[in-house]
Amino acid sequence: MQIEEIKKVANINKGKNLKYCILTMGCQLNENDSEKLCGMIEQMQYTKTQELENADLIIFNTCCVRENAEDKLFGKLGEVKKYKEKRGTIIAIGGCMMQEKHIVEKLKQSYSFFDIVFGTHTLHQFPADLYKILSSKKQIEDILDIDGEIIEGLPIKREDKIKASVSIMNGCNNFCSYCIVPYVRGRERSRLPKDIIEEVHNLAKQGYKEIMLLGQNVNSYLRAEKEKQISFEEYDGVNSFATLLRALNKIEGIERIRFISPHPKDFTDDVIEAIRDCNKVCKLIHLPLQSGSTNILKAMNRKYTKEQYLTLVEKMKKQIPQVTFSTDIIVGFPGEEENDFEDTLDVVKKVNFEQVYMFIYSRRVGTPGDRMENQIPEEMKHKRFDRLKKLVEEQIAIKNKEYVGKEQSILVEGKSKTNENMLTGRTDSNKVVVIEGKNNLIGKMLPVKIVSEHMWYLKGKVEE
Ligand code: 5AD
Ligand code: SF4
Repeated sequence: MQIEEIKKVANINKGKNLKYCILTMGCQLNENDSEKLCGMIEQMQYTKTQELENADLIIFNTCCVRENAEDKLFGKLGEVKKYKEKRGTIIAIGGCMMQEKHIVEKLKQSYSFFDIVFGTHTLHQFPADLYKILSSKKQIEDILDIDGEIIEGLPIKREDKIKASVSIMNGCNNFCSYCIVPYVRGRERSRLPKDIIEEVHNLAKQGYKEIMLLGQNVNSYLRAEKEKQISFEEYDGVNSFATLLRALNKIEGIERIRFISPHPKDFTDDVIEAIRDCNKVCKLIHLPLQSGSTNILKAMNRKYTKEQYLTLVEKMKKQIPQVTFSTDIIVGFPGEEENDFEDTLDVVKKVNFEQVYMFIYSRRVGTPGDRMENQIPEEMKHKRFDRLKKLVEEQIAIKNKEYVGKEQSILVEGKSKTNENMLTGRTDSNKVVVIEGKNNLIGKMLPVKIVSEHMWYLKGKVEE
């Protein structure tokens, strides 16, 4: 850890009333990395601002899973250039996109005013990079191609007071053919059971009620270590994802445990049993489908068929009372024919998901999908996307109606953003519920009766 560097930068910055602004793109893993960056940066005497023009330090934590994130970054860089010229703002760009060589080249050519670029394996070195900039003003490139170690004990500044995310592993070994993640986040490495359990104990002590376990493939937690025969210390009987869920379920103060994302091919029975047995583990399971067509799944290198996915869902529906599902779907993967797309619609109809995150296939440089010849025309992708969206919205509208009149247990998360007098919470199935109530209900689990439904939220009444 970089305590020395943090102190050195803090000394330089003391009394200067400096501000920083961080822009985070992408998934919750990136959000979690940003919370660690904020933790370090605030110890270095910067306070947070949302306004780019008032910042002395601007950090971009980038994502590269889909193309639109790149457009967003380059657009914003155009904007911050003028602040850099006006007040000498330090510009740091980090995260997944920086692990892509062609992007860093483009930055050097067209946006060479940046001060620091850092990758996914060098986040913890940010204080040292910043110190170098403050003392020498020379542009820094701090990117590692090899897998970085997991660094424990970084300070962390969490945005939320009720819900906290906890990363349990880094990297991915699956190489789905559309996905850039294995190239930018490296191979799977799991955190030690003891480190995770202690972190969650601390969160409980600080009053957190819900934890979200994060990893690219959470249900292969500790698998790479076992395969490579790397010895690790068990703690409280934890040697797998299922045993981790069981251990975390015992931690007093924590009311809810969620996790993203598992891979259907690794969904072993012990995990299903743990979800069933652990009262705090939410029964909403995010189970990325990606495509409902066995042919496309094969081309995607997903290693399951349409039937295997449906069988897994049926098994969980039988074994876990109240189970619900959410999913990720990509439309327009190379070679997707009308009948393949209809298979996707068919699975959506059969599973009846609580929520579907829909994506239009985006070509990623360096992935097998990008090299495939049978790319789908943009217009066709958009048309299919709209058809899928229509089906999903119809299903959600029906589901929302089914909630009305039922009792749900919600965790109250905070004040409503649109109405001062209302509070919002979520059901086990992650539906937003808006209720009337006083602030002292924030952080409490409450039984509520659902009184009306709207497309993106339900209205509830606190049960007397
Ligand atoms: N194009 C579109 N969507 C993608 N995803 C990952 N890679 C791509 C891509 N190249 C989606 C997948 C994944 C989610 C996080 O992003 O559905 O589950
Ligand atoms: Fe990407 Fe597949 Fe790994 Fe998920 S499991 S990060 S989609 S390669």
